[in-house]
Amino acid sequence: MRSPSEVLICPSILSADFATLAESIKTVTPQTDWLHVDVMDGHFVPNLTIGAPVVKSLRKHTELFMDCHLMITNPAKYLPDFAKAGADSCSIHVELGNTADLIKQARDLGIGVGLVANPDTPFEDFASFLGGVDVMLLMTVFPGFGGQKFIETVLPKITETAREIQLLDASTIIQVDGGIDVINGPKAAKAGARAFVAGNAIFAQADPLQAATDLRASIDAAIGAS
Ligand code: DX5
Ligand code: ZN
Repeated sequence: MRSPSEVLICPSILSADFATLAESIKTVTPQTDWLHVDVMDGHFVPNLTIGAPVVKSLRKHTELFMDCHLMITNPAKYLPDFAKAGADSCSIHVELGNTADLIKQARDLGIGVGLVANPDTPFEDFASFLGGVDVMLLMTVFPGFGGQKFIETVLPKITETAREIQLLDASTIIQVDGGIDVINGPKAAKAGARAFVAGNAIFAQADPLQAATDLRASIDAAIGAS
């Protein structure tokens, strides 16, 4: 995990060509801090994607930090598979409940731990866990699909979360996911986000590496980072 003052660009492979994943990842590696892997089970969200076997295959092709966003109903059952497959971190939705046990399970597996809150999940539902996770992922779209519109009303929740993390003197990194581009990334950064998931804004562009470079530059400019 990097220092919370750094900007972390997290390309989401959901928008990449699944038939040529290793190549797509190689293309954006120079601008990638964390590789964001969206895992969907067709139950917690209305879409199906990939699971631990793909993480295992990708592990042979990249040394990048693999940040797995688990949009699945039963993470307890699959966390060991992801850890074994080479995931560096797994993020679990707070809406599922059983949060303290799931955090402990991931910790015991020796991987990084993220907690995720949907756009309509209030601060109060995750505040008590903020000091105990590495990443707090605040969804800026409802999970399930790439290419959706950024939900601006999440911005005050980012600010509130950043303030609480500071009060706790914790190093928890605020990550945002959904509709992040050179316009919305800077808004989230000003509110306190430091890790930025982007699918469409990177992999759906003609030059994904340039798009990731531009995204980082827009965020650096917004928060005055060099
Ligand atoms: C949505 C996923 C996101 C998605 C973001 O359920 O969690 O990671 O890939 O895609 P964009 O950046 O296109 O909104
Ligand atoms: Zn995601």
